[in-house]
Amino acid sequence: MSTTTTVVRFDAFGGPEVLRVADEDVAAPGPDQVRVANRVIGVNPADLKRLAGAFGGRVPGVLGFEAAGVVDAVGADVEGFAPGDEVVWHGTGAQRALSVVRADHVRQRPSSVPVEQAAVLPVAAATAFSALVQADVGEGDVLLLHGASGGVGSAAVQVAHALGARVVGTASPANHDYLRGLGATPVAYGPGLVDAVRALPDGLAEVSVVVDLVGTPETVAATVELLGEDLAPADPDEPPRAVTVVGSDLSRAAGIVDKVDARGALDEVLALAEDGRLRLEISRRFPLAEAAEALRVVAGGHVRGKVVLEVRTGAE
Ligand SMILES: NC(=O)c1ccc[n+]([C@@H]2O[C@H](COP(=O)([O-])OP(=O)(O)OC[C@H]3O[C@@H](n4cnc5c(N)ncnc54)[C@H](OP(=O)(O)O)[C@@H]3O)[C@@H](O)[C@H]2O)c1
Repeated sequence: MSTTTTVVRFDAFGGPEVLRVADEDVAAPGPDQVRVANRVIGVNPADLKRLAGAFGGRVPGVLGFEAAGVVDAVGADVEGFAPGDEVVWHGTGAQRALSVVRADHVRQRPSSVPVEQAAVLPVAAATAFSALVQADVGEGDVLLLHGASGGVGSAAVQVAHALGARVVGTASPANHDYLRGLGATPVAYGPGLVDAVRALPDGLAEVSVVVDLVGTPETVAATVELLGEDLAPADPDEPPRAVTVVGSDLSRAAGIVDKVDARGALDEVLALAEDGRLRLEISRRFPLAEAAEALRVVAGGHVRGKVVLEVRTGAE
């Protein structure tokens, strides 16, 4: 049985101005799918890249790579989910009130993890976890995080602490107290970054691993300068000491390794959130119908923590 849902769609690649709010039919879930009534949808820079056509993909299309909500219907072959279950999922086309999703992309939401926290784990937090595990961040490390106050960065600070590392994070001065509140030592990006790191007390100048969430020539140069010979492990089987989530020809030529996907990252970050060790600040909330405005805020490049969309029901 199909039903009608609200969706934010685009009929051509472009910027936030091409987004349109519409009603569309949504199908019943197939045998391996569940249908989820989304309540909160995370907004990510990846939405802007998809909208611009950087990932290819189909047009018309629907943005959104993550959401949390309530299971509304379950496919015939699906086990482990029932209507009414509170869930979080990753996939594509989340900017809908109702999404049909592969069941293996859905997880139960632990009751201790609020719905808007769960909604922002699959992209930012799972990316942070994957990058840190790939770089084998652990006990005794001093991690330099380029771009520590955004969505991935805020998660990475907390994941690094859970793994036993100390964190030096770059942000504009307006976000330095925020980073201190997360337990990281802030330094300003821009001219003087390398000297500022080298002047840090308590062994924090001895950066042992770098995760780059910005990917500019400046961050690449600072990584090369601060890691020096340690950037390239002597044994190629050793984990990389510099990983980026925004790889480029420049970063690869410098020996900084692109993040690869790590299986199970959503389960790992859900467990950290359930333990109270991972929480992301939600700095802006918009109704689903204002997705274009939310995207403009993300495009500004200075979001602290996360921006989300809310699907508001008549009762709210
Ligand atoms: N490869 C993957 O799988 C993957 C997955 C997720 C994200 N990404 C990419 O990773 C990047 C970060 O994602 P995100 O979700 O964390 O973005 P975001 O939340 O939009 O990042 C905003 C943050 O970036 C900081 N920032 C801006 N310019 C900076 C600079 N020059 N140096 C240091 N910090 C700077 C801002 O801090 P101030 O306001 O203090 O300036 C702000 O807190 C994006 O390019 C995204 O596309 C890749």
